[in-house]
Amino acid sequence: MTLRKTALATALALSCGFSMLAYAHSGATGIVKERMDFFTQNKDDLKAIKTHFRNGDLDAIVPLATQIRDWAEKMPAYFPAGSDGKPSEASPQIWLDFSGFERAANANYQAANQLVIAAKAGDSKAAINAFKATAATCKSCHKSYKLD
Ligand code: HEC
Repeated sequence: MTLRKTALATALALSCGFSMLAYAHSGATGIVKERMDFFTQNKDDLKAIKTHFRNGDLDAIVPLATQIRDWAEKMPAYFPAGSDGKPSEASPQIWLDFSGFERAANANYQAANQLVIAAKAGDSKAAINAFKATAATCKSCHKSYKLD
């Protein structure tokens, strides 16, 4: 009986935790929520890639780098004019200089693509360089186009 109660309490606490998490991120709906989810995936992918480097598992990096690359390709389409403002952290600078934003997304695409190629080839030195370049292109876009 006690065990069941505990399990129930845990389940409740968990579900509350999750809905609070969803709430913290919310206000974000539609395309803003969608792009935030893609970016969160990016962050998780980078973290996972680091672990795979540590384990020398280049094969496991391929699908993750591919995911980053594919998101970079469609990223600009997820920033229609007027989709800034709270809770988005998109800087108005994006729409003042949309071709610059597209170039920043393309730099991210190219670096992630190099990572895909190097990981597929089993070239760990090239893969590590491409990984660093990928992370650098995340940062440099944020610097110009993300509020924080
Ligand atoms: C071309 C520009 C650009 C590139 C490249 C880019 N980002 Fe972002 N990122 C943004 C913008 C703009 C936002 C804010 C989106 C919003 O809040 O509407 C953002 C938001 C985020 C967020 C916050 C998401 C949230 O839920 O609020 C994370 C995490 C993130 N990016 C990680 C990354 C990582 C990791 C990479 C590289 C693998 C990356 N980004 C590449 C522009 C970029």
